[in-house]
Amino acid sequence: MNIKFEITEDGSHTLFVPELNEHYHSTHGAIQESMHVFIDAGLRHCVKSEIKVLEIGFGTGLNAFLTLLEAERTGRKIDYTTLEFYPLLIIDAEKLNYAELTDSTKKDVFRELHKVEWGKWSQLTLYFSLLKMKFDFSKPSDFDTENKFDVIFFDAFAPEKQPEMWVQEIFDKIYSISSENAILTTYCAKGSVRRMLQTAGFVVERLPGPPGKREILRARK
Ligand SMILES: C[S@@+](CC[C@H](N)C(=O)[O-])C[C@H]1O[C@@H](n2cnc3c(N)ncnc32)[C@H](O)[C@@H]1O
Repeated sequence: MNIKFEITEDGSHTLFVPELNEHYHSTHGAIQESMHVFIDAGLRHCVKSEIKVLEIGFGTGLNAFLTLLEAERTGRKIDYTTLEFYPLLIIDAEKLNYAELTDSTKKDVFRELHKVEWGKWSQLTLYFSLLKMKFDFSKPSDFDTENKFDVIFFDAFAPEKQPEMWVQEIFDKIYSISSENAILTTYCAKGSVRRMLQTAGFVVERLPGPPGKREILRARK
């Protein structure tokens, strides 16, 4: 995939994909958006001391990295499973400035997020372990897991760009592999997405979005 690096308004990088005319994050601030949507509205609302996270779309590893920092900060054990069908090249991932802007002592760990072997659990820090799976989640029925996930970060490209990732079958699958009281967050607040989450069985709230976005969604099982 052809990608271009851009600096967003909070100084953090995002990537632009010319073929899709789409950014990986909000141009108003990539770190700001990930913190708002996935850490503040999602992870921090899970009360468990041991948490299984599922992310759809590993991409730059930003959500995984912020989750790792949160695991270290809080001492909560996090097992993070992330799905990605179009992995970035490590040489590109290494240029991203997320560790520099959050915790420069963790630059090596950020690199490790990208370097670890696909399809295998890696214990990256005391509290954070990672399983990256090269998987096409537009075929959700092929996703086989024995886990039940407590927190789900739904971070596919926008419905206008990737409609196949925003269909009822996907949200039904996520519901079926979620634990009781699981929380899903996504940056997309479209009515059609909200209704699909409700049809799957989730109770859905609209929450204020980060700068540049009016609303986001949080769904609870
Ligand atoms: C909006 S980006 C966000 C990525 C990531 N969470 C981040 O912070 O950089 C969407 C991601 O979904 C991935 N993706 C696209 N289609 C997919 C598919 N069918 N299955 C799994 N991942 C997919 C893209 O390659 C991209 O990395």
